[in-house]
Amino acid sequence: MSAWNEGYTTDVQYTSFFHAEIAPSHIAFAALMAGQRAPDLSGAFSYCELGSGQGVTLNAIAALHPQARFWGFDFNPAQIANAARLADRAGLGNVQFRDWSFAQALDNEAQLPRFDVIALHGILSWVSEQNREEIVRFIDRTLKPGGIVYASYNTQPGWAQMAPFRQLAREHYLRHPGRSDLHVPSILAFADAFTEIGAAYFKANPVVEKRLEAMRKQPAAYLAHEFLNTHWEAFYVTDIARQMAGARLDYMTSATLIENVAVASLPPGVTAMLADHMPDDRLWQELAKDFACNKMFRRDLYVRGLNPLSATDHAAMLGELRLALAVPREAVKLAFQGPVGEAGGAAAVYDPILDRLAKGAASFGELIAVTPGKDRAKTLQAVTLLVHSKQVLPVADKVDGKAARVLNIVLTAAQFAGESYGVVVAPKARTALQVSGDELMLLGGLLAGRKTAAEAAGHAVERLAANGRAPQQEGKALKGEAAVAFLTGRFAPLMEAKLGVWKDLGII
Ligand SMILES: C[S@@+](CC[C@H](N)C(=O)[O-])C[C@H]1O[C@@H](n2cnc3c(N)ncnc32)[C@H](O)[C@@H]1O
Repeated sequence: MSAWNEGYTTDVQYTSFFHAEIAPSHIAFAALMAGQRAPDLSGAFSYCELGSGQGVTLNAIAALHPQARFWGFDFNPAQIANAARLADRAGLGNVQFRDWSFAQALDNEAQLPRFDVIALHGILSWVSEQNREEIVRFIDRTLKPGGIVYASYNTQPGWAQMAPFRQLAREHYLRHPGRSDLHVPSILAFADAFTEIGAAYFKANPVVEKRLEAMRKQPAAYLAHEFLNTHWEAFYVTDIARQMAGARLDYMTSATLIENVAVASLPPGVTAMLADHMPDDRLWQELAKDFACNKMFRRDLYVRGLNPLSATDHAAMLGELRLALAVPREAVKLAFQGPVGEAGGAAAVYDPILDRLAKGAASFGELIAVTPGKDRAKTLQAVTLLVHSKQVLPVADKVDGKAARVLNIVLTAAQFAGESYGVVVAPKARTALQVSGDELMLLGGLLAGRKTAAEAAGHAVERLAANGRAPQQEGKALKGEAAVAFLTGRFAPLMEAKLGVWKDLGII
């Protein structure tokens, strides 16, 4: 019998992280910006994540959409147990986790609903060809007509120079028994030694050393899952599109929003060149764009039946779009990270939009009204890039935030107990925000009814103590009044900067 893990890393668990791009609100926004019809994800819908890892994202979005139903499948039983435990602690009745392989999910499809969305984040490049075929068959049988698939994967040509390093890392690992993550430092040390002696591969590909530098900042468990699996392949967008066509899916748009804004994501001249060469061939254009910016990673949305919105429907749906600041106005940066580096935004266009949002959530129409020349295209572009950078988010006015509040209490309690999820859910934005440990502790106090930084600090000191912990200053545990004063000093500026946004997004 072959091993249950089918060559995938299971000796160390995958890291837990919230992936905003698979949130229904993000998918709906990306489809709207692309002018394409997507399922209505504001009411009841069904959503499946294949390879749900630690389940943080699925639990968060389940809490944000109590009217919808969520399924997460992953063959790693330890990870599924963690995901189910978080769901239980937060009392989430609308999410189910199963420790199923993709093949088992396929075998059990008759007992599953038909899905509006199927998400695969960090799967396709790290599993076997057989697994990819199972995934496509699962999608074929379970996705509704008009349903959406989110799929991310390592992309060519961006990995062309780096792929031999992955092979070196994998072969090194195979020759040194032991837990995969514990092996990562010795692989990096081996690469350093090889670079120092002037190995021609590293000399000929200086970008490898730069990427190794970035890798050193990542958790070893993450790198073990990225590099040490049996299967690893970077794909061209056209390869994936052909596979997805097997489930009657069409490419819709990129969920990395900046990639849909040519001026911010492509070297100058590329757009004109693309218009000259096969202007009607979307996939050819996507492939050419990947070459233009040497793309390494794609997050794509596919749809079962491409249906562009009519101009009337598009205008009506944009009219319903409301947006709000997700960071304090003064913290907004007009610098947007994309595949070819940072793109800037013109203050003359962005400032009036941001000033309007600083007064509270606004409709898309209200933002057009303040954009110079009432230019709809400019507003669309600005809003796309602001949402891409997570500084502005689409918001709903009326939400049922009860489940989200309970989950946030659980997430803050975990922080006091020394287990940091690093996120809180924002019911009005129907997504989660990355937050620091201090922010989680402050929010723990505010959610427990404390009103000031000092009260929240007192609450945090009590909760830490109940877990046998204390605030640390330069490695020294603080107690009593000193601990409260220390945390008050850290919480006060956070209250000042974040309280408004947290209230606007329905977190408190
Ligand atoms: C890179 S992780 C991504 C996890 C999660 N989607 C995320 O982004 O946080 C890949 C996940 O796929 C799961 N996986 C790999 N092969 C699988 C298979 N054949 N069946 C089910 N799950 C699988 C792994 O256990 C792992 O949790």
